[in-house]
Amino acid sequence: MASKGIIHIIDDEPIIHEILGQLLTGEGYEVELSSTGKEALEKHSGDGFDLILLDLLMPEMDGIEVLKKLKKIDPQALIIIITAYASVESAIAAMKMGAYDYIQKPFKHDELLLTITRAIEHKKLQEENLRLRDEIDKKFSFKNIIGNSEVMRNVFDLIKASAPTRSTILLEGESGTGKELVARAIHQNSDRANSPFIIVNSGSLPPDLLESHLFGHVKGAFTGATSNKKGLFEAADKGSIFFDEISTLNPETQAKLLRVMQDREFMRLGGTKTLRVDVRIIAATNTDLEELIQQNKFREDLYYRLNVIKIEIPPLRERKEDIPILVNHFVGMYSKENKKKIEGVSDEVMEILEIYDWPGNIRELENLIERAIVLSKLKLITHESLPPFLISRLGKDNESSSLSNDQLTLKEQVLAYQKSSIIEALKKTKGVQKEAAQLLGVKSTTLNEMIKRFRIDIKNMV
Ligand SMILES: Nc1ncnc2c1ncn2[C@@H]1O[C@H](COP(=O)(O)OP(=O)(O)OP(=O)(O)O)[C@@H](O)[C@H]1O
Ligand SMILES: [Mg+2]
Repeated sequence: MASKGIIHIIDDEPIIHEILGQLLTGEGYEVELSSTGKEALEKHSGDGFDLILLDLLMPEMDGIEVLKKLKKIDPQALIIIITAYASVESAIAAMKMGAYDYIQKPFKHDELLLTITRAIEHKKLQEENLRLRDEIDKKFSFKNIIGNSEVMRNVFDLIKASAPTRSTILLEGESGTGKELVARAIHQNSDRANSPFIIVNSGSLPPDLLESHLFGHVKGAFTGATSNKKGLFEAADKGSIFFDEISTLNPETQAKLLRVMQDREFMRLGGTKTLRVDVRIIAATNTDLEELIQQNKFREDLYYRLNVIKIEIPPLRERKEDIPILVNHFVGMYSKENKKKIEGVSDEVMEILEIYDWPGNIRELENLIERAIVLSKLKLITHESLPPFLISRLGKDNESSSLSNDQLTLKEQVLAYQKSSIIEALKKTKGVQKEAAQLLGVKSTTLNEMIKRFRIDIKNMV
């Protein structure tokens, strides 16, 4: 069972530690004990506790001082004041400073437990509301995935069929194709919609930190582990966990994740208690995992566990018929956001947008439209609001070109231009693809795909 929550008791009296410790552990909470304000503050790195019971009268740093500092570290901290005498005044002062409630010593056990349950429920509801508002703001519902092409309709069917199940889902697609959007839609259309959707960015953390992030840790598990802490798996209980770019998961964590998926249970780092949570896993990748398996960089057994339902999201260049509705969708969205009355794009602009290959996929198209809306002074977006690279060699300016524009179709011109910009960027960075990708504003994986597609000989750049 996942615990009911971690409660931090800050009180200088050992007898209170003992009484409250027993009472709360018996009720299924975990407790953390501190005798002084200083000790307590050292344990707060920002989060980790579900509730704090704070004594107002303590030697050295008094409760009010501790409260101020705790609120500074974590403004959302849920604090209940324990006050020894009928000094209701200072308790009220504490509530004005952000304490949730207070309770007088001596207290009845039932009364205390009720106050605690209510406080935790209240906080959960608040967080829930915030999240719902957030979801609504971001409008990540199904209807926000725009697409009418055959390939996208297949994707919609797969989302609809798989969302209500508990099956693990693997999303494959190039950068910017909408993997995160689809992952959210799956969560939103499942019976988990009112529970958390948690994103794990496996590439951004070193292995040991990632593991304590995912599975939590117990006090003393490693230097700096000053208290028990829940991991993302516990936080995502009843909800979904989204492993973004799963290919970057290091071998140790791959092994751990596999075990969790097989046994559906795990332990906090350094812990001895087995925890069970109900979490649906969605993973995304923009790299070919089967290729990584060949290179011994990704576990085959984990791949088969993840690959229960695979949804391949095609690149935009393979569903160009979606470009006009996507363009109109983004024009509507960004003109509203920028309080402008822009009706659409000119036929000429639409033609250019339909020819271009969109290496950065929908994200690139979205950014381009946003930019055009911001720049445009007219009711219609014309080629003047397009970035120079799209129009410079399309005969819209007089810049001399190494290509003879007359002899090439518009499409060939765009492709030739794309290829030459890539070569230029690679030359500038002496063949370092990562830097070249930055220059071009695309992901390295995207650049790599394009280098292959255009058969650019990278050795010539170094
Ligand atoms: N079909 C679509 N309709 C409308 N907007 C879309 C669609 N697909 C993607 N987008 C938008 O494009 C942007 C990129 O999408 P998203 O972040 O989901 O891509 P991704 O595949 O996760 O990319 P990366 O691999 O780079 O993380 C987002 O702003 C998203 O809202
Ligand atoms: Mg993403």
